[in-house]
Amino acid sequence: MARTATRFVCGQCGHDSAKWMGQCPGCGEWNTLAEEAAPGPASRGGAPRGRAVRPVALADVAAPRIPRLRTGIGELDRVLGGGLVPGSLVLLGGSPGIGKSTLTSMALGNLAGAGRRTLYVSGEESAAQIKLRAERLPGAALQVPVVAETDLDTVLATLEAERPEVCVIDSVQTLHAAELSGAAGSVGQVREVADRITRLAKARGIAVLLVGHVTKEGALAGPRVLEHLVDCVLQFEGERERTYRTLRALKNRFGSTNEAGVFEMAGGGLVEVADASARFVGEATRAPGSVVLAAMEGSRPLLVEVQALVSPSELVPPRRVANGIDRNRLALVLAVLGRHAGVGVGSADVFVNVAGGVRVDEPGADLAVALAVASAARGVVAGDGERPIACFGELGLSGELRSVAHPDRRAAEARKFGLAPLVSPDSAPTVRAALKAALGAPPRARAA
Ligand SMILES: Nc1ncnc2c1ncn2[C@@H]1O[C@H](COP(=O)(O)OP(=O)(O)OP(=O)(O)O)[C@@H](O)[C@H]1O
Ligand SMILES: [Mg+2]
Repeated sequence: MARTATRFVCGQCGHDSAKWMGQCPGCGEWNTLAEEAAPGPASRGGAPRGRAVRPVALADVAAPRIPRLRTGIGELDRVLGGGLVPGSLVLLGGSPGIGKSTLTSMALGNLAGAGRRTLYVSGEESAAQIKLRAERLPGAALQVPVVAETDLDTVLATLEAERPEVCVIDSVQTLHAAELSGAAGSVGQVREVADRITRLAKARGIAVLLVGHVTKEGALAGPRVLEHLVDCVLQFEGERERTYRTLRALKNRFGSTNEAGVFEMAGGGLVEVADASARFVGEATRAPGSVVLAAMEGSRPLLVEVQALVSPSELVPPRRVANGIDRNRLALVLAVLGRHAGVGVGSADVFVNVAGGVRVDEPGADLAVALAVASAARGVVAGDGERPIACFGELGLSGELRSVAHPDRRAAEARKFGLAPLVSPDSAPTVRAALKAALGAPPRARAA
């Protein structure tokens, strides 16, 4: 087969080079040149060779309402905004072993069971390995046709021949475009693979779920352009050794990015955790350093336990470990506690953990972290000692509590589990007042 000429283009300045170089001669940046298929003569300079088309008024555009393809996994459908849109591309990212193949196999199984044409393309596992997984999954997972293939041209030809309604590509990093010399998974390859699959999917109305790897830092591996190319980016998070996994939409052209789904890995595949609050509140401890955060997962309130441990340190500087919350947010909370609430932890190690492996990425978690740290530092149980105390609120730099979105839904969820009254910006204007409400007066004030 004749090989198309390739070129190397700098992602920073667009410098075009015939050969790969470590440093871009255009902008001087390192490792920014990525391989691309060279354009044909038609696209180089000169008069345009295409035929002009007549623009259409939006009001006259025919846009039939095509029903979404429901995967039958309620949490996944909700995060997608109601199901898969035919002809759309969804990128599902997640760390190794988190359950990406399990989730996509289950979704395809349900769709196959509902009479949809499906196809599972795996470049990572053999057909036998995929079968072993499908055997432990519910529904019609064993009915899904599979192809174990890494060559992009073969995959595209198969898609063209089979014309599935829904297809899973597991993973985009394992497919290889023969005309590019880079190894599978390299920036140029991933971009080419995603681009050609997108074009075919849009032309044939195939809903494609692309599985993607994430880097050590947790970002989707491959070029950022991949995220722009697809219609929806889903992130599957959680720690492998923990049971709970969260599915979030980072981008969604057909729905909100506020939704999140909670799953649990079990012997029979991923199980949806519809009432996660009940689980987390039930498991919450009644010891110093533990409070319940009334968080929002998209449009749903979720009660999660935030735990803190404060212990004398031999290290300079002492350790600050944050699991499930942002480390910078913890630093801010500790500074506000020290400056405005008289809770100094300067020479102690501080560990903060959101129980169940849940990640909370909202400023409304500040107050829970502050109360948990203060409760651990003073060795005092928050609340009445019988029920955990619930709270939410953002900490301002002057020690004030700031309101956050959906206070009513958070309060209603806490009430549902008997965690009332809760500490919030409505009940306490400052972090000092919130500490008093949750932990009582500080030791010095009590003695006086
Ligand atoms: N019999 C079982 N019972 C419970 N959990 C299981 C069982 N078999 C596998 N698992 C879980 O499934 C996980 C693997 O799921 P899966 O293969 O879907 O992950 P993945 O995200 O596709 O991983 P990779 O990145 O390696 O492709 C394992 O980490 C394990 O936790
Ligand atoms: Mg996998």
